[in-house]
Amino acid sequence: MPGHSSAARARRVPKPRFLAALLVASTGLAAIAACQPKPLDPKAALIARGRDLFFNETFGGNGRTCGTCHRQEENLTLTPAFIATLPKDDPLFVAEFVPALAQNFENPRLMREFGLIKENLDGFDSLATRFTMRGIPHTLALGTSVQSPAGPRTGWSGDGAPADGSLRSFAVGAVIQHFTKTLDRVADVDFRLPTDEELDALEAFQLSLGRQADLQLPLPLKGVVAQRGQAIFMDNAVGKCNICHSNAGATTSLGGNNIGNTNFNTGVEDLPDQPARLTGELVPRDDGFRTPGDSTFNTPPLVEAADTGPFFHNNSVETIEGAVAFYSGPAFNRSPSGRFLASTDPKKVGIQLDATQTVQVAAFLRVINGLENIRQALADLEEVEGLGFFERARGRELLERANHETDDGIQVLAGGGLHPEAVTELVKARELTRRAAGSLFNRRGYTGDAKAAQARARARLIQEAP
Ligand code: HEC
Ligand code: HEC
Repeated sequence: MPGHSSAARARRVPKPRFLAALLVASTGLAAIAACQPKPLDPKAALIARGRDLFFNETFGGNGRTCGTCHRQEENLTLTPAFIATLPKDDPLFVAEFVPALAQNFENPRLMREFGLIKENLDGFDSLATRFTMRGIPHTLALGTSVQSPAGPRTGWSGDGAPADGSLRSFAVGAVIQHFTKTLDRVADVDFRLPTDEELDALEAFQLSLGRQADLQLPLPLKGVVAQRGQAIFMDNAVGKCNICHSNAGATTSLGGNNIGNTNFNTGVEDLPDQPARLTGELVPRDDGFRTPGDSTFNTPPLVEAADTGPFFHNNSVETIEGAVAFYSGPAFNRSPSGRFLASTDPKKVGIQLDATQTVQVAAFLRVINGLENIRQALADLEEVEGLGFFERARGRELLERANHETDDGIQVLAGGGLHPEAVTELVKARELTRRAAGSLFNRRGYTGDAKAAQARARARLIQEAP
């Protein structure tokens, strides 16, 4: 096994400091010059600028950044569990400590208990009653999920961006909604709007996040449970998922034609006992796309779903198993989408999966999410290997992300009782990634060993191409 070679073991033996110092001194200036960061190409420079804006720019507002809600370490979203770890003065909680934002800006209870954010998608004129409470979507794989035949679709209902509805414009709407110092929302007083150059950079950064292409299903999966889940997912007479989530992505395929990203009314708003409503807090019905709304929501990609719950636009379902079970319940089957599926079914049923099948489809979603975690971690580790000695900050960033991805991979698999051998390899990979982050002179060695462990984990999940 490559990771256990004697060379690898020898590398882990801590070297005396004086040896290291000797090494640095003797390699001399020429070697140092050779390790200087390479200048970035224009696209990489724009992405780096966008990353900086996304995580650091407050646009003269209340202190929030895009990264306040779309956190790098949380897959570009937030969960109640993570929110509970934040200090009281985190800008996420401005409504709790800025008097001008105390009323009608956020609902702190619903934010803390369910990760819900107030959105005034139908305008800012009746703040106390005209709003929706929505979960924060991840901003991964946006290049695969925004384009629709009717133009770009962003946000849970597809109308989250002002003006042309594009991803580029989304940042403008987000600043006005989330960054303001007061509820007057006056530009150049309560915040400043992003410049064209900033919008370009933010867009380039967001498009660089996560998957750049859709999967090609079916995958040659190894586990029988996930395999069966994939078959049900893809069977247009059984799971029917692949009709709207083609290749487990965010596009619709009808009669073999991919028609792009689409909106549907799947009845999520009709779920009984929605957690946020159990509190007694005001949660108006969310009318979805447009003003007034047509009750439709935008199809999200599923490859990234299992590690980005709670699920649906209102965070109404906590587990991926529960999200799959939704489709066999009355809220979906009585919805326009459920009735449409039933009308085209020879036995006139919409979607009707039993418990075994529901869990199998969820297992499939867990495994493809785990594979995506491994893909991202491997890409990050590879980039680390290409960095020069002095590109420490970028190296740390990448290793941190590889670490989080590996954590997620462990959780999505272990949470479904899936592939314990792969989990064991991922635990090793995580340890090696941590060592790489802490190592001054053997970052590359540990990084290579971490890659090998990731590859062994992947080989447990899927048949590799010969
Ligand atoms: C206070 C939390 C918060 C902040 C700050 C925030 N967002 Fe969001 N973001 C959300 C929520 C909630 C949604 C869902 C909105 C909807 O459904 O229309 C969202 C949706 C999005 C989407 C749509 C993703 C998709 O899959 O369609 C993008 C893109 C996005 N945000 C980018 C940004 C950018 C860029 C910034 C900074 C300028 C930002 N967000 C700041 C909470 C936030
Ligand atoms: C008629 C189209 C349609 C079909 C069929 C469909 N979905 Fe969906 N799916 C959607 C839409 C639209 C949403 C967003 C709904 C919302 O948030 O209100 C969604 C959301 C989801 C989510 C939540 C994702 C997240 O990030 O919160 C999961 C999980 C999911 N679907 C899985 C499935 C599975 C599994 C099947 C098959 C059993 C399936 N879907 C069938 C359209 C569809």
